[in-house]
Amino acid sequence: MLFEGKGLIFLGGKGGVGKTTLSASLAYLFAQRGEKVLLLSTDPAHSLRDIFGEEDIPPNISVLEIDTRRAVRKHINRVLNVVRASVNPDSYRRIEAMILSLEDTPGVEEAAILEELSKIVLESLDNFDRIVVDSAPTGHTLQMLRASIRIGPWIEELIKLREKGNRFREAASLGEETRDVTSSLKERRERFVRFSQLLTSPYTAFIPVLTPEKLPVEETKRLVASLEHMGLDIPLLIVNKVLPEEGSGEFFKKRKLQEEIYLREIRRYFGRFKLLFVPLRDKDVSGVEDVRELAQLIYNLSDGGYKG
Ligand SMILES: Nc1ncnc2c1ncn2[C@@H]1O[C@H](COP(=O)(O)OP(=O)(O)OP(=O)(O)O)[C@@H](O)[C@H]1O
Ligand SMILES: [Mg+2]
Repeated sequence: MLFEGKGLIFLGGKGGVGKTTLSASLAYLFAQRGEKVLLLSTDPAHSLRDIFGEEDIPPNISVLEIDTRRAVRKHINRVLNVVRASVNPDSYRRIEAMILSLEDTPGVEEAAILEELSKIVLESLDNFDRIVVDSAPTGHTLQMLRASIRIGPWIEELIKLREKGNRFREAASLGEETRDVTSSLKERRERFVRFSQLLTSPYTAFIPVLTPEKLPVEETKRLVASLEHMGLDIPLLIVNKVLPEEGSGEFFKKRKLQEEIYLREIRRYFGRFKLLFVPLRDKDVSGVEDVRELAQLIYNLSDGGYKG
């Protein structure tokens, strides 16, 4: 029942809470059921492959880590092409330097990743039963999702502006290049419209991951509010690294007491969502055996109620 009808699943949350580990485990769980799974990472600091250990990835899981720097360069080149076709060579030379310097500007990376992600996801829908996305930490991911929902109208404006300009440029026989740019803008507009419709459709799920600690809990409150505001579906929250019941010593007892405060807060604040509590293991999750174990645990925790 859990994840039923959910073909595109994002995992998001604060740094270090277990997004990558749980994405790999969910992918494994689906793959074990014979589904064809695409496991995608949009986090510039990738670690999906490290978790599995390269040669151990089960055959029906395809792992794809978006190369962020390459995506940024491609994105900047696309922007330059639009500008080159839109302004005179003198202005272009001035603007070019400015645009090239955007490489390290906040937001550019998210825009570039969005370009890649939207393309890959839309092209993969027919070829995979599930697409699991290991997202970058909260801020980046939200910025990217918001952009995907807003970018359509913005491109629309650009196209209108260009179409106005085109009449003059065609008169000056610059038509060819201009038409190319306009059609590529139209292709992007259609893609973003489709992508944002997909994000807000019941096919897509966003699963916030958090740990029972102050900052992750606070950040998840904001994350959930933003996701709901954008109209994304949240079928459950995963609370990871919950201390085991048994344990001894003053230190453990104190930690457990402290954790209890946040677990209560989580139950109180997120009570209307399904919550999955994943225990803290005594060692890291590393290698395909560990991923298999965690996948089994998630399956058991979801009461075997997981039927795809
Ligand atoms: N339930 C767990 N028990 C023990 N260790 C865990 C558990 N979940 C995750 N870990 C460990 O915690 C560390 C962080 O996990 P992971 O890399 O999945 O987090 P992340 O949210 O993807 O981090 P980042 O934001 O840096 O990408 C890893 O060393 C992982 O093995
Ligand atoms: Mg990660």
